[in-house]
Amino acid sequence: MAETSRAQIAEQIEFSAFSTADLDGISRLITAMSDDGANLHLRDKSPAYYRWMYFDNPTGQAFGCFARHGDRIVSSFAMAPKLVVVGGRTVRLGKTMDMFTDPDYQGMGLIRKCADRVFAEARDHGVDGWYVTPSVNSYPIFKNKWGYAEPFQPIFRARLIDPRAALAAVSPALVRRLGPQLVTRLSRWPRRRLNLPKGWTVSQPTRFGPETDQLWDAIAPTHQVALVRNASYLNWRYVDNPDDYSLWALHHQGELRGIVVTKQTIRRGLPVGDIVDLICARDDATTLRLLVRLAVDRCAAAGCAMVEAWSILGSLFDRRLRSAGLLIARAKMPLLLSPDYPDRLLYDAEAWWLTQGDGNDV
Ligand SMILES: CC(C)(COP(=O)(O)OP(=O)(O)OC[C@H]1O[C@@H](n2cnc3c(N)ncnc32)[C@H](O)[C@@H]1OP(=O)(O)O)[C@@H](O)C(=O)NCCC(=O)NCCS
Repeated sequence: MAETSRAQIAEQIEFSAFSTADLDGISRLITAMSDDGANLHLRDKSPAYYRWMYFDNPTGQAFGCFARHGDRIVSSFAMAPKLVVVGGRTVRLGKTMDMFTDPDYQGMGLIRKCADRVFAEARDHGVDGWYVTPSVNSYPIFKNKWGYAEPFQPIFRARLIDPRAALAAVSPALVRRLGPQLVTRLSRWPRRRLNLPKGWTVSQPTRFGPETDQLWDAIAPTHQVALVRNASYLNWRYVDNPDDYSLWALHHQGELRGIVVTKQTIRRGLPVGDIVDLICARDDATTLRLLVRLAVDRCAAAGCAMVEAWSILGSLFDRRLRSAGLLIARAKMPLLLSPDYPDRLLYDAEAWWLTQGDGNDV
């Protein structure tokens, strides 16, 4: 685009908060700009998903701003409000999402304008801080231009279920070098079936209810920084979501002790079991280990080649995921925090109970 026509276009662009009439446009922009295909599928991106995400959140409607050129949405930025326990207080934090500018309109300051509006609206609604899971494109903007903090290093902790398939997807050249004999031995990695210790039972709820609220009320004081995982939040996030999640509840002597949520995604063409949420007392290492092993067992039975969860490198939570069998540090995943949040606990790696469900990719 020539500079003069870009200047003219910039004047024609209108900014507005989104409405339900925009859901098709936002879905189109984000679907067109995403990498989804046969090799990558993490979550739904339909208009129904955006209706659910922007308008049905029990913590409140998402804050959002779109830039339009004519009848086309050319840039978007949104933030979901989340209830979070921070050091014994329940506060509203934001999770930024859907930061996209159509390639024809990039570098014109559209995201800057959309983001500024969203941040101002969030502050007006009592949201004093937010977290970001940036892409390679948005990382330098948040980190270098806008001064966001990066106090710790989240990673994917993984366990291979089918090493041959995973290796073939990650490094076909290495598979060729190893040769068929070695590779066939890899594929015969025996699967250890889960035998729960005496007194433990599993159920598969279809919805969360009063028992979940009782669990959350009992465990909330043990957490330092954690999304409020009560029934209302969990039903919105995993049951009313247009996408499909599997829910597993773990009981000890008949009493609910923990919940794990999984979802099957496609990464590098492989079926992957993502541990999306883990709910138990922060200091209950036994339940956490059983929840992870339960998720691995069920994902393996469903044909996943790998199981993975978010973790914060070097934290106690990370050590517990490793001892539950998620031994591989598969990839780093930046998480940035808006600068100057008044409670410094937010910047403490050990304080967070962070799971993939806290993000919006899966
Ligand atoms: C990242 C993206 C949203 C930026 O949108 P944009 O409308 O072109 O951005 P803007 O023109 O408003 O620029 C915003 C700021 O980032 C800076 N910036 C833009 N591109 C940059 C880059 N590649 N590296 C560093 N800074 C950059 C601008 O100078 C501007 O700085 P300022 O706020 O100090 O003035 C856009 O490139 C995009 O959609 N990328 C692909 C999708 C993606 O990765 N989205 C992020 C998902 S989390």
